[in-house]
Amino acid sequence: MNTRSSIQGLHPAIATPEVEAAIDAVIAGIDQAQSKLTGVRSPDPDKQAAAAATIQTYGEARGRGLWYPLMGSGLGRGALVELTDGSVKYDFITGIGVHAFGHGDLDIIRTAIMAATGDVVMQGNLQCNEDAAAFSEALLSGAADGGERKLAHCFLTNSGALANENALKICMQKTGGAPRVLTFEHCFAGRTTTMAQVGDSAGARQGLALNLEVEHLPYFDPADPEGSTSRAVEQLEQAIRRYPCQHACLALEPLQGEGGFNVAPRSFFQPLMERARAAGIPIWFDEVQSFGRTEAMYRYQWLDLEPDVVTVGKMSQVCATLYTPDMNPNPGLLSATFIGSTASLRVGRRMLERLQAEGAYGEDGRHARLHQAFRRFARQLVESNPEHFPSPHDPGRPASPDEVIGGAGGMMRLTPYGGDATRIKPLLMRMLDAGVIAFSCGHGPVHLRFLPPMGVLTESDIESVLGIVGDVLEEDA
Ligand SMILES: Cc1ncc(COP(=O)(O)O)c(C=O)c1O
Repeated sequence: MNTRSSIQGLHPAIATPEVEAAIDAVIAGIDQAQSKLTGVRSPDPDKQAAAAATIQTYGEARGRGLWYPLMGSGLGRGALVELTDGSVKYDFITGIGVHAFGHGDLDIIRTAIMAATGDVVMQGNLQCNEDAAAFSEALLSGAADGGERKLAHCFLTNSGALANENALKICMQKTGGAPRVLTFEHCFAGRTTTMAQVGDSAGARQGLALNLEVEHLPYFDPADPEGSTSRAVEQLEQAIRRYPCQHACLALEPLQGEGGFNVAPRSFFQPLMERARAAGIPIWFDEVQSFGRTEAMYRYQWLDLEPDVVTVGKMSQVCATLYTPDMNPNPGLLSATFIGSTASLRVGRRMLERLQAEGAYGEDGRHARLHQAFRRFARQLVESNPEHFPSPHDPGRPASPDEVIGGAGGMMRLTPYGGDATRIKPLLMRMLDAGVIAFSCGHGPVHLRFLPPMGVLTESDIESVLGIVGDVLEEDA
C-alpha cells in the first residue's frame, strides 16, 4: 500500500517538502517498531504488574472493571495488537467493529497525522472545516444508486446512539409526534434512555422511566422462513389495526448485531416494508453495526430495499443519519456541539475510499471471499470437534455446520457448547489467554462474535485464529 496516497490532506501552506519528509520519517519509525510484531506473544513478566495496576485503577475510576482486563499499548500491526502487559494478540473484535483497518495501518496513521496538522481538533455543527463536508459527501455518494440520490441528506454526529436518536426524532416529526415504535426481537439501538427502550434487552432499561411504546416483532428465522415472515407481517398488521396513525417508524437492523448476527433476506423485509409504507409509517434501517463490513457499503443496497432513513456508525469513525428529502426535518430538530474530530472525519473518509478502491464489495468482493474463508475454516473446526458443537436446538445431537456458523461479510459467528451462555464467557477468557480477542452476541443461543479488521484481514489470520479456538476447545476436553 502506498502510504503517500492521501498526502493531499495537508493544507497547501503546510505541505512543504520539510513537513512531508518529517511525516515520512514518523511513518518509517512506526513501520520499524511494528516489524517486531509477527505473531501471538505471551505477556512480559516485567510489564504485567504495572499493566494490571493501571487496568484496576481505571476500573475503580469507572466504578466497574473492564469486561476484558486488557489495554492496548499503542502499537499494533494488521490484525495483531500489542497490549500493555507486553503480550501480542489477534484482535478479532476491533473495539466492536471500529478499527476496520486493524492496528497501525500506515496509510491510516498518515491520514491521521495529516489531520493533526490542521488548526482544530474537533469539528462541530456551528463551525466546521471542509473535512465534515467531504466525509458527508463520501457517505452520500456511497449511498447513491446509479447516480440517483434518494438518501439526499446526511447529518453527522459522534455516536451510534445519537445517530439513532436523530433518526427517531426525524421519524416522529414526520408522523406528527406519533408515540409508538415498531421494531424487532433481539434488536439493539444504543444506550440513551430512549434507545434503551427500543432495544430488546431488559437489563439495559432497568431503573429507567419508560416513556416510549415499543412493539418487538419476531425476526426472521432461517429454520422457518415463511412462517417467521408471516408471523411478523401478521403482528405488524395487528399493531397498525390496533393503533392507527400512532407509529413513528418501523425500525430494523437489516443484519442484527448484538442480537446474534442474525441474517435476514429481502423476502422477509419487503412485505413488512410494503405494509408499513401503505400505513404511512417511515422505515428506518439501523446499520450502525453492519455498515461497511458486509458485501455492500450499505446493507439496504445488498438487499435492494429503499429505506427512508439509515443510520451508520462504528467503522465509519463518525456516525451519521441519512434520509430522503421527504424526511428532512424542520430547523431546530437536529444539532449538537460536536460532529467528531478532524482525524476521525479524515480517517473515516479514507477507510471508505480504500474499501471501495480495494474491491471490498460485491458478490465476489474481498468481504464475501473472506467470509467464505471463515466458513471453510470454521467448518473444519466443527467437523473435527463435534463434541464441542452440539446443536443449539437439540443438544442431544451434534450440530450441522450451518447451525453453528453464521453471519455475513465481516460479521462472523461461531456457536460452541450449544450456545450455552455460562460456558461462552469462560471460553472467551481462555481464548484471550491463548491470543485471541473476540466477544459474544445473541440472547440465547449465545455465539462467539468476530468483527475482524476487514480492510487488512488475510485468510491466514482467520486460519490462525480458528486454530487457536480449536486448541482452546480441545484443552477443555
Ligand atoms: C445496531 C446498533 N445500533 C446502535 C448502536 C449504538 O452505537 P454506539 O455504541 O456508538 O452508541 C449499536 C452499538 O453496538 C448497534 O450495534
